[in-house]
Amino acid sequence: MRHLRVPNRAVEDVLVVLRDRGWLATGMRVIPDEDGEHRLVPIDLGAPIEMTSPLDGHQIVQHEGTFDNRVDSDWWNHLALLVDKDEIEAFGEDWPSSHEFISDMMVVRIEAILEPYSSRIAEAKLRAHPHIRLVLNDEGVQGELRIRKLTPIGARVGGEIVTDNIPESACSTRVLVRESGRSIACDPNKAYFSTKLQSERLETLSLSKELRAVIGRPINVCDPFCGVGPALATLLSEPELVNHALASDLNPEAVTLLLDNLRRWDRRDYPPEPSPISRIFEDRIIGIADASRLREHDSLVGLWDLVIVNLPHRTIEFLPSLVPLLDMSTPSLVRGRVVVSESEILDANEEIKRSLPKLLQDFHEPSLKIKRDYSSTLRLCSFEAWIAPQ
Ligand SMILES: C[S@@+](CC[C@H](N)C(=O)[O-])C[C@H]1O[C@@H](n2cnc3c(N)ncnc32)[C@H](O)[C@@H]1O
Repeated sequence: MRHLRVPNRAVEDVLVVLRDRGWLATGMRVIPDEDGEHRLVPIDLGAPIEMTSPLDGHQIVQHEGTFDNRVDSDWWNHLALLVDKDEIEAFGEDWPSSHEFISDMMVVRIEAILEPYSSRIAEAKLRAHPHIRLVLNDEGVQGELRIRKLTPIGARVGGEIVTDNIPESACSTRVLVRESGRSIACDPNKAYFSTKLQSERLETLSLSKELRAVIGRPINVCDPFCGVGPALATLLSEPELVNHALASDLNPEAVTLLLDNLRRWDRRDYPPEPSPISRIFEDRIIGIADASRLREHDSLVGLWDLVIVNLPHRTIEFLPSLVPLLDMSTPSLVRGRVVVSESEILDANEEIKRSLPKLLQDFHEPSLKIKRDYSSTLRLCSFEAWIAPQ
């Protein structure tokens, strides 16, 4: 998560400004920096990418966020009023102490063994987080479209907490999420979206700026697994960075949300309904498409400076079919995410290199960096590959 690195003596002043602007991450702690002379102040996901005066003199750093125990203990305190102490102790670390906020919804992952306690877990979480409207149990990402199965287990209806027979009207999962100064419309029950990928998107932004500097002009971006478009949200917020953009996805529901988002981000009149991929504006190619078949459209090949490959289970398999999309007249960049077991990372690096054209000299070769655990054996990794003009 992003933190502002602030000299110890300036922390109180910075906290006042961040709170005032709604940019202070709630539920997270200010942590000491390694040098002992600075503190790292957690920045809200919705805060803009660049800080403005008087905060712009402080460095922004990425550091694992630390939950504020006072907030966590709140949920435990509420749970203790609803569940016997012995039962709480019996299930130890199986209780869902962490959660993901998606706007005014909270997503928790409840172990099967704790399902009989779902209602009480939801009630404790709702009591501890008064701004939350709906608590959903995350039953995992499913199918090719990577949609999460989210089941409502508690809601706030007219100020009351309801955990049984939750009315349909309280269960809407379509929300607006603030990220890097933009609003992203998403519905995690209909299309993949994760708030946890913000730092990944910021890394893509910084690589894109580097690419712009290398080729000396705004870049053409191809995001063929775009979902609701969060990667583009970040890139479009940088002036003079993106020239042409292609954004497509196999999931029509994702494309509907993408069109809604683009209408706000681009301030142009995008159509309300999704349709197969087509040129909607001179510089915007948008729609439903199977990424592996984009190369069959002559008008789409050889055009793109940056290709984003975000289908982590199948990225390596898809790479060869995406290479023809790259503009080979100048250096280009492939940015991807991969799920792989730790023992297979070296092989995966070789496979990525085999799938791509000649690499750009003087740039690091593509090499998977572990971002987090995906399961006990699998790791979620990302890479970037700089491609030489051919
Ligand atoms: C892990 S999600 C990433 C979505 C988005 N890039 C993001 O960061 O939120 C992968 C996306 O790929 C889409 N998808 C899966 N198979 C596809 C295919 N063959 N062609 C195009 N999109 C596909 C899914 O619908 C899903 O939206």
